[in-house]
Amino acid sequence: MTDTLFIQIRERVALFVRSSALVCITLFLCGCSPQATSETEGPPTLAHVMDPLLNDASEVFWDSAGFIDTYEGTTDLTPTTEEGWQRVIDAADEITRLSAVLQDERYSLNRPAWNELSQMLVIAADRGRQSVIDRDGAELFQSGAQLYQVCVACHQTFWSNNRFTISESESQ
Ligand code: HEC
Repeated sequence: MTDTLFIQIRERVALFVRSSALVCITLFLCGCSPQATSETEGPPTLAHVMDPLLNDASEVFWDSAGFIDTYEGTTDLTPTTEEGWQRVIDAADEITRLSAVLQDERYSLNRPAWNELSQMLVIAADRGRQSVIDRDGAELFQSGAQLYQVCVACHQTFWSNNRFTISESESQ
């Protein structure tokens, strides 16, 4: 299970358009997504907390670790500048902030499993933060994989129309 999820994130990072989730992210980055609306008054919808907020912060993790293989060669995504490492720290801070937002009663509806999964975002974010302090690209990759597993776990538990569903062959 862990292995297949790990392979999944590796593929996700390595091959650009593979899943509908990535298409969605790509659309967002192009500014074409209907989600890319301006902030409205009042608390954001859960969909907005997810995308763009949590999704964008997570993308920083996934775009800052691993390798991309093309015919031109292999690109190492590990940060090479202070700014690049700092971006991961900022993303970890944002994920931590959003974990607390998700645990607000408005979103959690006081479901213990929901709060537990939200807490696990912080564990992955902390691991990523530590990997930055250690300048450890492999560990940063692992924290990104761990983060992704939390997304999948919560979506499988609480999101019935889940676009992130793992296909039969990949699950278990
Ligand atoms: C605590 C539970 C929980 C966690 C953790 C979680 N999600 Fe979600 N996510 C949801 C639920 C529930 C929905 C469905 C929201 C809706 O459509 O109203 C959702 C929807 C989404 C969507 C689609 C939003 C849309 O446009 O409708 C994206 C993108 C997303 N999540 C990304 C992520 C990423 C990336 C992570 C991990 C870093 C993550 N989520 C972690 C519960 C969670």
